[in-house]
Amino acid sequence: MKIMVVGGGGREHAIIKKLKENKNIEEIFALPGNGGISLDATCVDIGAKDIDGIMDFAKSEKVDFAVVAPDDPLVLGAVDKLNEAGIKTFGPNKRAAIIEGSKAFSKDLMKKYNIPTAKYATFENLKDAISYLDEVDIPIVIKADGLALGKGVIIAETREEAEKAIHSMMEDKVFGESGSKVVIEEFLTGPEVSVLAFTDGKTLVPMVSSMDHKRALDGDKGLNTGGMGTIAPNPYYTEKIAEECMEKIFIPTMKAMNEENRTFKGCLYFGLMLTESGPKVIEYNCRFGDPETQVVLPLLETDLLDIMIAIYEERLEDIEIKFSSDRACCVVMASSGYPLSYEKGFPITMPVDKNIYVAGAKLEGNDLVTNGGRVLGVTEKGRTLEEAIAKAYDTVGKVDFENAFYRKDIGAKALKAERK
Ligand code: AMP
Ligand code: GLY
Repeated sequence: MKIMVVGGGGREHAIIKKLKENKNIEEIFALPGNGGISLDATCVDIGAKDIDGIMDFAKSEKVDFAVVAPDDPLVLGAVDKLNEAGIKTFGPNKRAAIIEGSKAFSKDLMKKYNIPTAKYATFENLKDAISYLDEVDIPIVIKADGLALGKGVIIAETREEAEKAIHSMMEDKVFGESGSKVVIEEFLTGPEVSVLAFTDGKTLVPMVSSMDHKRALDGDKGLNTGGMGTIAPNPYYTEKIAEECMEKIFIPTMKAMNEENRTFKGCLYFGLMLTESGPKVIEYNCRFGDPETQVVLPLLETDLLDIMIAIYEERLEDIEIKFSSDRACCVVMASSGYPLSYEKGFPITMPVDKNIYVAGAKLEGNDLVTNGGRVLGVTEKGRTLEEAIAKAYDTVGKVDFENAFYRKDIGAKALKAERK
């Protein structure tokens, strides 16, 4: 079989490495992929948002199955177009991808179907948004409605910060049209858990839970990033909480999307906060999370392509999905200066026999060189979380590039929680 994977980050590298365990796959194309992915797949220079380019390629190569991984092409309707052209594809269609594409939509959905989430209000008018601040407690959370590269969320610690955030989104349009509508929501506290789930709209199977580390520096300090590391499973996510989430959040969300005639097929990501009054949804994503995928998929024991095809054919219930009882830890190695400005173009040396998922690198001749903020993620597994963390940092020590920077405390909070 010929498979096409749309996307070019660490998440896509993890998906591709997992897919490669299937012996029926002869070739995997990554659009656009990256220099690191090219060690595992044939990279094709077509951007993930170039829907026409993706379509033309899929048809001319006669790919047997496509996987659309990033939010942008999903929200733009890549899956609809591929399906219309007769190409079997994993991922939600445009009507379903709105669950990530519009925060106002997802908040209204949760309200309508009684799915626990932070209290909120939505505004399309700047003045109204500002006056609403008189009615709320501080800190308060301001969110751009649309996609904003994971940056459209501002936690305002003062009223001034809240006003500034609203002005920058609605007036200065720092996130473009994504900010013409804003959601203002209650600030919640508690441990955060990411749960990815396979669903075909009839059956929903949660994967092992995970914990992201979003801040740039140790101790959860510094700026928000795309994710500096992950561990799985997340020790805060007990069996009891998992049952509660299944009953009050996961299944109701699947059913709500069906009710709205927006059946979701693919990987649905639940960003949860375990508050004192129970688990609440912080965000939905219409896709695998990054870098959650880099710890979740290495623990998957069932063939990924079989699952993806079953979802496409709406017979997920026929598949028994198994995860290893191991623990996994992924440490992201970034370019010094990320998430702000950083230099790139430095040669990378790394062991080839390890689970290293490359995000920001390109090939220059035969040399792999840094080409992004987050350069790669190193994943290791262990019988215990402690072992997984120690092995991950050991492998990090075998990777080398100039200006490398990474957090030294990935998994530390989880370890502490485990010991409680
Ligand atoms: P998002 O871009 O939706 O993933 O949000 C980024 C981060 O902002 C989340 O991972 C949370 O840490 C934080 N966040 C989002 N919404 C809230 C909220 N209502 N209360 C507290 N923190 C939040
Ligand atoms: N790790 C969060 C995300 O993928 O959006």
